[in-house]
Amino acid sequence: MYDLSSQVALITGSARGIGRRIAEALAANGAKVVIADLFEEQVQSCVDQLRSSGCDATGVTVNVTQVEAVRAAIQTANEKLGRIDILVNNAGITRDNLLLRMKDEEWRQVLATNLDGVFFVTREVLPTMLKQRHGRVINIASVVGEMGNPGQANYAASKAGLIGFTKALAREVASRDITVNAVAPGYIETEMTAKLSEKARQELQNMIPMKRIGNVDDVSSGVCFLASKEAGYITGHVLNINGGMYM
Ligand SMILES: NC(=O)c1ccc[n+]([C@@H]2O[C@H](COP(=O)([O-])OP(=O)(O)OC[C@H]3O[C@@H](n4cnc5c(N)ncnc54)[C@H](O)[C@@H]3O)[C@@H](O)[C@H]2O)c1
Repeated sequence: MYDLSSQVALITGSARGIGRRIAEALAANGAKVVIADLFEEQVQSCVDQLRSSGCDATGVTVNVTQVEAVRAAIQTANEKLGRIDILVNNAGITRDNLLLRMKDEEWRQVLATNLDGVFFVTREVLPTMLKQRHGRVINIASVVGEMGNPGQANYAASKAGLIGFTKALAREVASRDITVNAVAPGYIETEMTAKLSEKARQELQNMIPMKRIGNVDDVSSGVCFLASKEAGYITGHVLNINGGMYM
């Protein structure tokens, strides 16, 4: 456990999957969490469930690809909570296709969510962190951004770009006690990977030195560490959580 009491954490794409588990774990460590996701109903149901288990949760509905919506959502979060200490840029999508068949839309949608979205949200949150002279930015990248994957040129480009973004921003804001790190998960059990056939799952497991697909707790525990004061001298780092798939 880490002491995140009196800290406010905003997590994008947190109504389900990895983001949701990150929000639950940060809240379990004492943080007040802001659930930021696309659809009001899902955001509200996630907030209700967190509150019913005793967590301090607030919701904002936002599409991270829309700069004005991002501005309004971060303003709302700031007004409600007065500060933002931890930003987890987790919202991300895939639109897989082999490059020769990849449609402009598939390329653009992935880059818009996974990269433009991170830029818009971080640019909006950063003034608050600079004023506080404290902050933690944690970007959810992917092993695919480090090693590539056929059929995912758009996704790999976005996640490799996110790693570059992480390192550049880490250098910009380090002197203000703001750390900027990335977490690069391997294959994680979520709705996305639940669709895999048994054969594909077996093949995947064989590629992973630890012989298992990861789970959302594997990712959230890395994020909680990077958000903690114990990780205060770590910045510009990419934390691989992949069972040894890529070293
Ligand atoms: N599942 C994996 O195996 C895996 C592996 C490596 C990295 N990741 C990364 O982890 C993150 C979460 O993945 P997941 O598996 O939980 O995905 P998911 O699809 O289960 O959840 C993604 C969440 O992001 C939200 N979202 C999507 N577009 C958005 C937008 N424009 N604005 C706001 N919210 C938006 C969705 O509504 C959803 O709640 C992603 O960045 C993904 O690339 C996942």
